[in-house]
Amino acid sequence: MIRRYSFGTPCDTGAVVLSLPEEKGKMPYFDVRREGEKVLFRTQLTEEETVFGLGENVRGINKRGHRYRSWNSDDFNHTEDRQSIYASHNLLVFFRPDRLFGVYFDDPGLVIYDLGDARRDTAEIVSENGDLNVYLLEGADLKEIAKLFRGLTGRSYLPPEWAFGYIQSRWGYASEREVRAVAEEHRKRHIPLDGICMDIDYMEGYRNFTWKKDAFPDLKAFVRSMKEEHIRLIPIIDAGIKTEEGYGPYDSGKEGGFFCKKADGTDFVAAVWPGRCCFPDFLREDARKWFGDLYRPLLEAGIEGFWNDMNEPALFYSDETLAQAFALAETLKGKELDLSENWAIKDAFNAVANNPEDYRRFYHVMDGRNVRHDKVHNLYGAGMTRASADGMRRFRPGERYLLFSRSSFVGAHRDGGVWQGDNFSWWSHLKMAMQMLPNMNLCGFLFCGCDLGGFGCSTTEDLLERFLQLGVFTPLMRNHSALHTREQEIYRFSIWETMRDTVTVRYALLPYLYSEYMKAALTDSMLFRPLAFDYPEDRRAVRTEDQLMLGGECMIAPVYEQNAEGRYVYLPEDMLMIRFRSAQDYDLIPMEKGDHYISLGLGEFPLFVRNGHAVPLCRGGENVDEIKTDRLKMIGKVENEAVYDLYRDDGISEKVGMDGNITRIRVGKQELVSDIELKPDR
Ligand code: GLC
Repeated sequence: MIRRYSFGTPCDTGAVVLSLPEEKGKMPYFDVRREGEKVLFRTQLTEEETVFGLGENVRGINKRGHRYRSWNSDDFNHTEDRQSIYASHNLLVFFRPDRLFGVYFDDPGLVIYDLGDARRDTAEIVSENGDLNVYLLEGADLKEIAKLFRGLTGRSYLPPEWAFGYIQSRWGYASEREVRAVAEEHRKRHIPLDGICMDIDYMEGYRNFTWKKDAFPDLKAFVRSMKEEHIRLIPIIDAGIKTEEGYGPYDSGKEGGFFCKKADGTDFVAAVWPGRCCFPDFLREDARKWFGDLYRPLLEAGIEGFWNDMNEPALFYSDETLAQAFALAETLKGKELDLSENWAIKDAFNAVANNPEDYRRFYHVMDGRNVRHDKVHNLYGAGMTRASADGMRRFRPGERYLLFSRSSFVGAHRDGGVWQGDNFSWWSHLKMAMQMLPNMNLCGFLFCGCDLGGFGCSTTEDLLERFLQLGVFTPLMRNHSALHTREQEIYRFSIWETMRDTVTVRYALLPYLYSEYMKAALTDSMLFRPLAFDYPEDRRAVRTEDQLMLGGECMIAPVYEQNAEGRYVYLPEDMLMIRFRSAQDYDLIPMEKGDHYISLGLGEFPLFVRNGHAVPLCRGGENVDEIKTDRLKMIGKVENEAVYDLYRDDGISEKVGMDGNITRIRVGKQELVSDIELKPDR
């Protein structure tokens, strides 16, 4: 059951697709009070209570014991003390033996969540603006709550099948020659590859929708020839449009009046990569249509996927914030700084970027009204996602597209995926990436992944290998790194063959991973789940923070520590461990419920299959187009019979459903593995 409670005058955030009558009575579970504009929601927590949710954010799977904020932030420093990163996914699920409910705060502005931080036994959620709808979700179990939430907010995005291939990316690829070299190295060494991202350096002076004509003299021909090699190019698009007369997108945006404006009616201007930029008002339908059409030249060149960035929006500085910092510097010039002045000058220059005052300086037009940006801040990235998704749908109707964004809000999960933003090449970030996955899925974002190997600072060989071992299972499997860090393509490393073998497992498992993704999307369920969702009565499982359920059959337990040669795993039931070294080379080890130490040398990683289930493994390939599902190995320990519903489709049509696309595979009693033949898929 879902109930809606309304506070103040909420706007339509676009997150919710169900229209529900407003409940008039007192809202259960929470003491609610208003303080000025704010609305506060308070509930007691028992010691055994677990709190899931908040999608993309720092810390563990169980969010309890910390303070978080919904405030989409361009902050690359994802340390434990952070309270928000790039996304606002305002769903919480409270879970303990005597109560279970979900609560969604449909609020586009700042929301603060104290989940047992000030007091261990109290959760308090504060809506700063006080204009919001709150949805209470009640169901029989955790999985039902997740399903109800998807019913409330709509079906998750369906990417094309090729988007599940391995993608290589790096900030710095600046020419066709460089991109070709990356492709060639992968093909030469048989490292599977389906896509290469083009970061900002492909553009002319970082201007969106342009490309360097000397470095990419015939983009269309380049895209075509890469596609012949089964490699798609995936360009980046940023939110800001360079303010420069004569630059098409600026001129047309200006003419249409599509940029966000200040109170005096002039365009708001702040700097991003290309220098001073204007910011499309993505909350307006006509501005979204205009922006979506700007993707056309790239789509006409044959591009089928994009990543949208800097859409919190990130602001490097405005003239106003810069002036403030310089003014302070002027007053301190020539002085010997005391401690507070020393801090003040540092703070002043740090504050030129993403300054809260800047977010209060510009307006959107919503339903004909001017709305100050900070009131609806968290909708900006979702608006950009929608603009580009609609643009691609208009250009190639009926076909799926690849799209992933940095910033997001619930609702954007219908239009595209997300990546987890600028992580570091840190072991702790490998763990954090894993821990974000189930909460992102809970909030509807199924197509997600992190920068494998780590984006900031230089990776190490073992760290990249262990990142890849997680990436084998994430829908978006992309190796991405920052300018000036160690080059991170697999072939740069002495253990590149080990890394390649790891990637081959992705392709052998692709029939399973694609099938489980599509079934999760089409049936409003989750691909990655906390163990609590499947073993709610098992306290150990509920408290497990470093293992995840994957699809209907499996559990993963990645290694996330430096120099580890194995790890402890808790099995909530008897399972079969597949210890992978490559698509062809793996051990099958039946294991009993309970605690185990499993040895996992650097090139080894486990997938656990629940007893009584079987998962398909194919021969693999070097790109998704090569994957065939006509001959599969079904792996699993089966005492009577296992049934697996394999989802297959043409990999590209938009209108798909479970009907007609499921092949039911029955596996009779078997010790570990059987071969089956199916009708060819394509
Ligand atoms: C941002 C993105 C990152 C990208 C960089 C340059 O930091 O998050 O992925 O490489 O900008 O475009």
